Amino acid sequence: INPTQNLKNLVSYPLGVAVNPRLLHENESYRKIVASEFTGLTAENHMKMALIHPEANRFDFSQADDIVSFAQAHQQRMHGHTLVWHNQTATWMKEFQGDQKAWEDMLKNHIQTVVKHFKGKVKGWDVVNEAFLDDGSLRPNIWSDHIPDYLAKSFIWAHEADPDALLFYNDYGQDGKPKKMQAILHVVEDFKRRQIPIHGLGLQMHISILSKNEQLKEVIQQATATGLQIHFSELDVAVNPQNISDYQYDEPSKKEQIQKYELLFQAFEKVPMAQRYGITFWNVGDQDSWLRGYFKRPKEYPLLFDENYLRKPAYQALFQTL
Ligand code: XIL
Repeated sequence: INPTQNLKNLVSYPLGVAVNPRLLHENESYRKIVASEFTGLTAENHMKMALIHPEANRFDFSQADDIVSFAQAHQQRMHGHTLVWHNQTATWMKEFQGDQKAWEDMLKNHIQTVVKHFKGKVKGWDVVNEAFLDDGSLRPNIWSDHIPDYLAKSFIWAHEADPDALLFYNDYGQDGKPKKMQAILHVVEDFKRRQIPIHGLGLQMHISILSKNEQLKEVIQQATATGLQIHFSELDVAVNPQNISDYQYDEPSKKEQIQKYELLFQAFEKVPMAQRYGITFWNVGDQDSWLRGYFKRPKEYPLLFDENYLRKPAYQALFQTL
């Protein structure tokens, strides 16, 4: 393919990527790829509680602001991730002491300070992330422990702070977990009935070559049937999910990976145009992948760009398909 032709030009929706401000700053190839290949950005970590609100009375917006400036300089749509989650909460939050009212004030202040800071700069927010377990029950965490109905309250508080922002519920691994998906769909129904603002569903799409096509398609159809905005919010396709140490990323695995990418992009094209919020990749090149860093899986190649930020066969294949 002519390098001046990009995947982003073939799609009608933002093609996003999760970014790390240090790499944007230090690594020129990374910066160039992010600028040229993507039309949307998500902060991989720097809008999360622990990083943006490190002390009870101190917010640190510096790194997130850098990402937002980069997005603005390159006409990229900024997606906010994430206001309420059980991971990467601040230490002071875990140690917080107080009654229900104090907890509510604390979470409301967090949500509203962050949302107001980025008002007009962030198009949509993952308001609550990963609130359900695979069996469909509410995940026990510091928020559910202290704040009854914390999902609904979080959406209401976020909406008050920026009525124009699109508000998403974001989660992973709904495929093959019907109870988890039902719990999410139930939230949507319940919010509609109670007139609590929710505008979109984020399907993270941390999938692998072992993911089942029919299950993926079913989840996408169920999400689409809500009529809400649909975001494939954290896409990557793992090729070595069992972390086999002498794994070879050979032609058959590349082909299976390509088929998964094609399936998801084709399924997204079937979502009505007005509901297509976008597809966001979780990281840029294979060596940046959280599957290598966070999960310590060195032989993983889940993305569209290789170690040298060159387009992989999966990129070329999608380019042909779309
Ligand atoms: C991950 C980041 O990629 C890592 O750098 C960090 O150490 C842990 O979090 N689901 C989410 C993301 O919603 O926020 C996670 O990001 C990946 C799983």
